[in-house]
Amino acid sequence: MADNISKIPTHVGIIMDGNGRWAQKRLMPRSSGHSAGMKRMIALAQKAKDLGVKYLTVYALSTENLSRPQEELDKLYSLIRTYFIKNVDKLIKQGAAVKVIGDLSLLPKDVTEVIQNGVNKSPKDAEFTFIMALAYGGRSEIVNAASRAVAEGLELTEQNLSSRLYTAGVPDPDFIIRTGGELRLSNFLMWQAAYAELYFTDTLFPDFTNGKFEKALLDFSSRKRRFGKV
Ligand code: IPE
Ligand code: IPE
Ligand code: MG
Repeated sequence: MADNISKIPTHVGIIMDGNGRWAQKRLMPRSSGHSAGMKRMIALAQKAKDLGVKYLTVYALSTENLSRPQEELDKLYSLIRTYFIKNVDKLIKQGAAVKVIGDLSLLPKDVTEVIQNGVNKSPKDAEFTFIMALAYGGRSEIVNAASRAVAEGLELTEQNLSSRLYTAGVPDPDFIIRTGGELRLSNFLMWQAAYAELYFTDTLFPDFTNGKFEKALLDFSSRKRRFGKV
């Protein structure tokens, strides 16, 4: 199928939704859905890199998710710690860079240390960047960027604002996929998604195979992007 994908997006975003329902359907705890989701996330990062995607941003934890039961959050943090060490190191060894966007001060210190460690080891001139949105909220990102521009005494222009977002220097996403059946963005890349092509699938994230990812990319390559022009 990969051969038929005529246009590979530079930047893909994935809202990885449906882990909990995937587990509940199997009468398993929600945490096992997150565990299966993490495995899928790493496999998709590898696939995206192999297909020539330059940036992959995955929505792993929203600021709103931080109000979930502590038990679920602790399981997620423990998964992030272990997956970061094992798999992110593997990606970095293959020349990929890792970046994190979000308010890391809202996460436990041992989680941010592991993440920061991976980020610091990342090459500067990578051909593929894996971006994890953690404790991320699009609206607060915009407010913080605007406040910083104002504090610097700058005029509030699109350029001054976007260069103060977490994603400064990263091109806007061309394609955003949401798994899990909901038709919304849930505060993901609110500024950056202005002209992204959107793709929604009922497939729950742990079932979103590399083949389904390729099918989504095939859909993207058939879209006509006009950016307001005729
Ligand atoms: C998405 O899956 C992952 C996170 C938000 C951490 P959910 O946990 O939201 O799964 P559902 O939507 O309840 O099935
Ligand atoms: C969006 O999923 C956030 C992530 C995938 C990290 P949610 O499950 O939190 O979204 P809502 O609550 O259904 O909008
Ligand atoms: Mg959900």
